Amino acid sequence: MNPDRSKIPASLGEFGEQLAISEILNPQQIEELNEKIESGRWPTDARKLASRLFYEKWLTEFQARKLIASRASELIVGRYLIFDRIGGGAMGDVFKAEHQYMGRIVALKMIKQEMMSDRLIKRFRREMRLAARMNHPNVVRAYDADQVGNLFYIAMEYVPGKSLGELLKAGPLGMREVARYGAQAALGLDHAHQQGILHRDVKPSNILLSSEDRKTIKVLDLGLGMLIDPSSGDPMLTQAGNVVGTYDYMSPEQVKGRTLDGRSDLYSLGCTMYHLMTGYPPFRHEIPMKRMSMRIDTKPTPISEYLPEMPRRLVAIMDKMLAVDPEDRFQSGLEVNDALMSLFKPKVRAPGETSSSQDTPSAVAETPPERPAATGPSLNEPLIASQPPIAPEYSTIGSFVDPSSGSNVTMPKFWPARHPRITLAVGILAWAGSVAAAYFLGAAR
Ligand SMILES: Nc1ncnc2c1ncn2[C@@H]1O[C@H](COP(=O)(O)OP(=O)(O)O)[C@@H](O)[C@H]1O
Ligand SMILES: [Mg+2]
Repeated sequence: MNPDRSKIPASLGEFGEQLAISEILNPQQIEELNEKIESGRWPTDARKLASRLFYEKWLTEFQARKLIASRASELIVGRYLIFDRIGGGAMGDVFKAEHQYMGRIVALKMIKQEMMSDRLIKRFRREMRLAARMNHPNVVRAYDADQVGNLFYIAMEYVPGKSLGELLKAGPLGMREVARYGAQAALGLDHAHQQGILHRDVKPSNILLSSEDRKTIKVLDLGLGMLIDPSSGDPMLTQAGNVVGTYDYMSPEQVKGRTLDGRSDLYSLGCTMYHLMTGYPPFRHEIPMKRMSMRIDTKPTPISEYLPEMPRRLVAIMDKMLAVDPEDRFQSGLEVNDALMSLFKPKVRAPGETSSSQDTPSAVAETPPERPAATGPSLNEPLIASQPPIAPEYSTIGSFVDPSSGSNVTMPKFWPARHPRITLAVGILAWAGSVAAAYFLGAAR
């Protein structure tokens, strides 16, 4: 630990006062602390003591720094005790914190005071009422929103993990991965849209990948898009006040300042997925305003220029997500989810149809589907709930093209390797089913 040297060193007495203000330690810890200092086992120098408490995990580094700088009051916001700063953006800083009575760990988003005009305060309250209704595995839940003095904050579900924006810094992500992430984000957005909430600021840093299972996606900051300050400069728009969003992910109707609906968020999701897969936003120009206006009448750089190996079905989905006219796009998050998840399902071919090198696997009909169709939940259900748990002998490798494999046929390995007879029986059944389907399809013509 290296506490801020510019601050006047706090004396032990001052440090004790700061500790008391912060209410970080419980009475038992305070007793132990006193006893250890008196017996000479712990240092009497405030900085050294702070380091010791950090070492003992009684304080976080962030807390120790605040106490040493005599800024303990900043560690308490309403009923929340702050542990750490976990991020910051245009709206303000985000902290990891704990509710002092309930013990719940939250992400506390403090909203910059200057962002809150009277008009925005009203909208904030209205939007928070709506946000409170959201309850979906692909949406970061809002628990609490309040005002302490002039400070507004929102307490939300803390999601351990990284945002897709952070992951993108290390380079583009695989297209299978992005398709799965996009499918989940679309479900989260659909849930919000059904509650009458628009995001308005869908972008990689507002999508979190949970580190708990490394596959669950949670959409962040739903309902807060309206707070983005139009006067805050790049990367936000500096116009009329009702046009918000980040340049690279804005929808054409957002740029034009039109009334928005859910399809605008889905366009932004398309831009986000494009950026994640290619490493570049869909429109490239050195002047941000130009990048923004290009989308009104121009198509993005064809995604296949960056990723020639991309399956045609995915190219078509991306093109549809990025259509200029909302009528030409998918009309709901559910539709986006269905389209993306269909990439992971075997394609049933009509009799006589030959396999396409660009499409999903040729031997699909013989292969057990990733999710058994008869018993599996519908795609309209939350994706994470519908994915089978990963047991050691299972693999969730789908039938979608694996760009890193060099081959465009990656078969599902869903069945336990320990039961070759079951695998064989299921294979035969699937084959018989496909033959029957081909026969009936042929007969129906
Ligand atoms: N609920 C949360 N759980 C975990 N991390 C979060 C949460 N909310 C925000 N963060 C982290 O804080 C960062 C900054 O968030 P934010 O202030 O919304 O800025 P941005 O403008 O990048 O979206 C996010 O990218 C994320 O890493
Ligand atoms: Mg954010």
